[in-house]
Amino acid sequence: LASIEVDVSAVEVGQSITVTWRGKPVFIRQRTEQEIAEAAAVPLSDLPDQFARNSNLEDGADASDANRAADGKEAWLVMVGVCTHLGCVPLGQKNGDNKGEFGGWFCPCHGSHYDTAGRIRKGPAPENMLVPPYKFTTDDTVVIG
Ligand code: FES
Repeated sequence: LASIEVDVSAVEVGQSITVTWRGKPVFIRQRTEQEIAEAAAVPLSDLPDQFARNSNLEDGADASDANRAADGKEAWLVMVGVCTHLGCVPLGQKNGDNKGEFGGWFCPCHGSHYDTAGRIRKGPAPENMLVPPYKFTTDDTVVIG
């Protein structure tokens, strides 16, 4: 299937789910207020990758938190859960996982740390995790692809 429809009504604040799209894991997270605030407070100049890597925006859009989160729904982050270094699946989806030094996701393969907007902050990964084409068609429904 080129696109999938996901019901996110059971995903509470601070929870994540992983779905499969085109054979790849896609992370969907409803972030906490603190996670949003942390990501929004980071100066763009601190980011190793300056680009949003958001398939829903024009190429070259900057990596601000607003450009990484869902359009009009800043709590929601939808991204391909594949490390941009060599393709491992980062940890951070489950409570108790090692979320790395920036509180988002951590790739244990070679030590890449992603923040609460899924942006690479430290380690060998060259790019922010990819935001796939998607949209919320209702408050509780996301169509990916
Ligand atoms: Fe993630 Fe190398 S594959 S750090």
